[in-house]
Amino acid sequence: MAPFHSHLFLPLLLLFCLSSPSTSLATSVCVIGSGIGGSSLSFFLQNQTAIPTSDLSIRVFERRGRIGGRTAPVNLSGDLFNAGASIIHGKNLHAVRFAELLGLDQVEPNGADWLGIWDGSGFVFKTLKPPPDSSSAIWKWLYGVADALLLVKRYGLSLSRMQGVVKDLLEKFMLFYVEPEKRPIFKTVEEMLKWNGLYALSQITLEEVLIHADLSARLISELVTVITRINYGQSVSMSGLAGAVALAGSNADLWTVKGGNWLLAKGLLELTNPTLHLHEGIESISDKGDHYLLTSDKGKEYECDVTVVATPLDEVNITFVPPVSIPHRRMQHTYTTFIRGLLNPKYFGLSSVEDIPDLVGTLETPNVSFSSVSILKKYDERDFAYKIFSRSELDDTLLDQLFSVRRDTIRIDWPAYPHYKAPEKFAPFLLDERHLYYINTFESAASCIETSAVAAENVARLIISRLLQSSTEQDIKPLPTSQEILHTDL
Ligand SMILES: Cc1cc2nc3c(=O)[nH]c(=O)nc-3n(C[C@H](O)[C@H](O)[C@H](O)COP(=O)(O)OP(=O)(O)OC[C@H]3O[C@@H](n4cnc5c(N)ncnc54)[C@H](O)[C@@H]3O)c2cc1C
Ligand SMILES: *[C@@H]1O[C@H](CO)[C@@H](O)[C@H](O)[C@H]1NC(C)=O
Ligand SMILES: *[C@@H]1O[C@H](CO)[C@@H](O)[C@H](O)[C@H]1NC(C)=O
Ligand SMILES: *[C@@H]1O[C@H](CO)[C@@H](O)[C@H](O)[C@H]1NC(C)=O
Ligand SMILES: *[C@@H]1O[C@H](CO)[C@@H](O)[C@H](O)[C@H]1NC(C)=O
Repeated sequence: MAPFHSHLFLPLLLLFCLSSPSTSLATSVCVIGSGIGGSSLSFFLQNQTAIPTSDLSIRVFERRGRIGGRTAPVNLSGDLFNAGASIIHGKNLHAVRFAELLGLDQVEPNGADWLGIWDGSGFVFKTLKPPPDSSSAIWKWLYGVADALLLVKRYGLSLSRMQGVVKDLLEKFMLFYVEPEKRPIFKTVEEMLKWNGLYALSQITLEEVLIHADLSARLISELVTVITRINYGQSVSMSGLAGAVALAGSNADLWTVKGGNWLLAKGLLELTNPTLHLHEGIESISDKGDHYLLTSDKGKEYECDVTVVATPLDEVNITFVPPVSIPHRRMQHTYTTFIRGLLNPKYFGLSSVEDIPDLVGTLETPNVSFSSVSILKKYDERDFAYKIFSRSELDDTLLDQLFSVRRDTIRIDWPAYPHYKAPEKFAPFLLDERHLYYINTFESAASCIETSAVAAENVARLIISRLLQSSTEQDIKPLPTSQEILHTDL
C-alpha cells in the first residue's frame, strides 16, 4: 500500500470546505403542466435571488403537443379565438406584468356591449342597443347615460352594493402583491386566504354573501346569475369567493392578450427556458427518499429533487407512491361551442337577427339548454363568429334550431374549473413532508389565469424557502400579518 501523503490531502480538504456552500443547492425541479401555472412557476423560480438560478435545473412536462393548457386558442374558419380563458382583469397584476415583460399587447376583449337576459321563452331584460361606432361622441354619451338608467330602473341601488362586494374583494386580493418581505410564505390555501381576509367568503355561498350585502332578489336571480353562468357555468349557490371573482370578471376594466392568452405561457417558458417535454404525460410520481422518480407515458424515467403538480388532479391519472390524500373535488365541465354562421331570430321569438343582443345570458331554469351565446366577430350583416357556453353537449338538432346558417362548428368539452360549493375545503400546497407541491389546489378558491400565477408565486417561494431551510436547518422568521400591512401601506 502506498504511504499516505498528508500534505496532498490538506489542500483538497480546504478546497472542499471553501466551495461547498455554493455547490450544495444544485436542485432539479420537475413541473407537470405547461399552463399558466407551470410556466409562471418556472418564471418565479428564476425571478428570485436566494438561490443562484444556475443551481436550478427545471423540466416542464406537457402531455399535449402545445403549451398553455386552458388558455389554448381555437381556429374557427381561419380565425384564432381564445378557446378557454378569454378575459383578464386590469388589476390582475401578475398577468399585466407578464404582458409588459414579454412585449405582448393588451387589447379590449371581443366586445359584447349589448346584453339580453333570456329565460327560455322571452327576454326578461335587455340593455339598450349601442349606437354604431360612427355615432358622435355626444350620442354615445347619451346612450351610456340612458343605458345606466335602464339598469338602475330594473335593479335599483342594489347595483352599487354589488360593486361594493367586488371592490372589497379586489382590495383584499391586492395584498397578494405586497413585497415579499412583508408577505408570509403559505403552506396551505386556508392560511393564505385567512391572511388577507378572503377565507370567510369561501365558506358561504355567493347567494348568502349577496343577501348579506343587501342585494335585491331580482338582481341575484337575474344579472348575477347570468354572470356566474357565463364565467363559471354555475349558479349563485357556488362559493362566495369564486362568485365574487366571477363578478369582478364582468367589470369594465378587462383586457385580453393580442394574439391569444396562451402567448403568456409561451412567453414565460421562452424567457426562463426550462427543458420542455411536449407530448410527454407523467404517469407516476414515486418518493425515493432523497428524490422523486417520475415515469412518463413514453416509458422514460426522471429523477427530481422537487416535483410540482401544475394541473388539477381531479381528472388525471397520476399514481403517487406513497399515495397522497386530498379532498374530493368535482370539475365543472363547460362545453364551448364555436360557430361561424348566423343565429335564427325565430328561436328567440324575434323577426330580425339585428334584434338579438350581442350577448345572450340565461337564467337558472331547467328549460334553457345553454348558459350564454355571444358574438366574437362580425364579418358582415349575415356572417358572424359565435361562442356558446353550456353545461352539456349541444346536439345538432338544437343547433339547427338556434342557427339559420351554420358553416363551421367546433365543440370543446373543458374540465373547466372546480364545481364550487360552500364551505370549500382545500388540499395543501405541500402534498407530503418533503418536496411534492400542488399549485392547482388554489383553484378551489377561484380559478383564473391570475389565481394560477398567484398560487405559483407562493409555491415558488415555498420551494426556495424549504430548500434553504433543509440546507441550513434554520427556521423562517415570523412575518407581519395582513393587518399590519393594511395599516402601514393603505
Ligand atoms: C371555458 C373556460 C373559460 C375560462 N375563462 C377564463 C377567463 O375568461 N379568464 C381567466 O382568467 N380564466 C378563465 N378560465 C380559467 C383559466 O383558463 C384557468 O384557471 C387557467 O388557465 C388554469 O391554468 P393552469 O396552468 O393552472 O392549468 P391548465 O391550463 O389546465 O394547465 C395544465 C396543463 O397540464 C397538462 N397536463 C395534465 N396532466 C398532465 C400529465 N399527467 N403530464 C403532463 N402534463 C399534464 C395539461 O395538458 C395542461 O396543459 C376559463 C377556463 C375555461 C375552461
Ligand atoms: C424579476 O423580474 C423583473 C421583471 O418583472 C426583473 O426586473 C428583475 O430583474 C427580475 N429579478 C431577478 C432576480 O431575476
Ligand atoms: C386555421 O386553419 C386553417 C385550415 O383549416 C389554416 O389554413 C390556417 O392557417 C389556420 N389559421 C391560423 C391562424 O392558424
Ligand atoms: C322557462 O322557464 C321560465 C322561468 O322558469 C318561464 O318563465 C318560461 O315560461 C319557461 N319557458 C318555457 C318555454 O317553458
Ligand atoms: C384513468 O384510468 C382509468 C382506469 O385505467 C380510466 O377508466 C380513465 O378513463 C382514465 N382517465 C383519464 C382521464 O385518463
